[in-house]
Amino acid sequence: MEQEKSSNGAKKIILSGIQPTGTFTLGNYLGAVRNWQKMQEAYACYYFIADLHSLTVHIEPAKRRAQTREAFALLLACGIDTERSLVFVQSHNRCHAEMGWIMDCCSPFGELSRMTQFKDKAEKHPDNINAGLFTYPALMAGDILLYQADYVPVGEDQTQHLEFTRDVATRFNHTYGETFKLPEGYFPKAGARVMSLQDPTSKMSKSDENPKATISILDEEKAILKKFKSAVTDSEACVCFRADKPGVSNLMTIYSAVTGKTMETIETEFAGKGYGDFKAAVGEAVADELRPIRENYARLMDDRAYLEAEMKKGAERAECIARRTLAKVKKRVGLLLD
Ligand code: TRP
Repeated sequence: MEQEKSSNGAKKIILSGIQPTGTFTLGNYLGAVRNWQKMQEAYACYYFIADLHSLTVHIEPAKRRAQTREAFALLLACGIDTERSLVFVQSHNRCHAEMGWIMDCCSPFGELSRMTQFKDKAEKHPDNINAGLFTYPALMAGDILLYQADYVPVGEDQTQHLEFTRDVATRFNHTYGETFKLPEGYFPKAGARVMSLQDPTSKMSKSDENPKATISILDEEKAILKKFKSAVTDSEACVCFRADKPGVSNLMTIYSAVTGKTMETIETEFAGKGYGDFKAAVGEAVADELRPIRENYARLMDDRAYLEAEMKKGAERAECIARRTLAKVKKRVGLLLD
């Protein structure tokens, strides 16, 4: 990956957050987290577990605690290296909550009302439409602006929030003087879009009720092979990448992402062979890719003291960076500095 430097010669900053809501799927991994790991070379990377954002949805407290720890361990298990990148839990750096309130006060009600994710979530959980769900984009704007991030890798569902962040930052800079860098979206060309194994026209999702539809990155080899074996394909018995063959094309996308082979190479490799051979090859390639992650994860989860020490280190470093912007912001808006 090519290095890109800021005008002061420092590496550009990439920042992203992930909510602690269960184990990542192969889709999350190939579409996002694997790229996060690759970006560590070229960029200064800041990754955090967005536990404050997760409070907008009700989860058992013990489950939230466990999921936060698991998500942190998963990032490390996927090769995010705490020596090179900053990894932390959002709530451990108090600047986020403080900045969140200031951003709330810079967020017009009308703009927040237009956020499609708010409308979707409010419809899905009519019994818990809390104020946090509504001001979620303001908290997210604070997360990003605190670190003067250059790029934010986000999925499609978050692009509106990123646009919102840019609007808040532009307005703030205009009202109070230049304070924030305007962040840009980062959309890697390499990110694979992985679809459900049972309904290849919809995205692979953590929340799918059919366990055969998704591969968790912690699935055992046997389960992986079995799920690929029962993946939905078609009756043509031809391994080729075509719009009218969503099942086979999805398996090819996965195989290509994991092995680095092009679609043509894959078509040649399986010419004249049945889907059985192809599915077995995809399953084995995925199992090989995920094995070290599963092993790293087990080791990390066994060493709670290490995980906690890493969280603490991450929080301290994060606060050290964020504090500078927060102090500037407080001064700009007229809060007396303590
Ligand atoms: N809202 C993001 C999501 O649900 C998580 C998130 C919180 C985030 N703060 C962020 C992502 C800042 C990027 C930057 O996926």
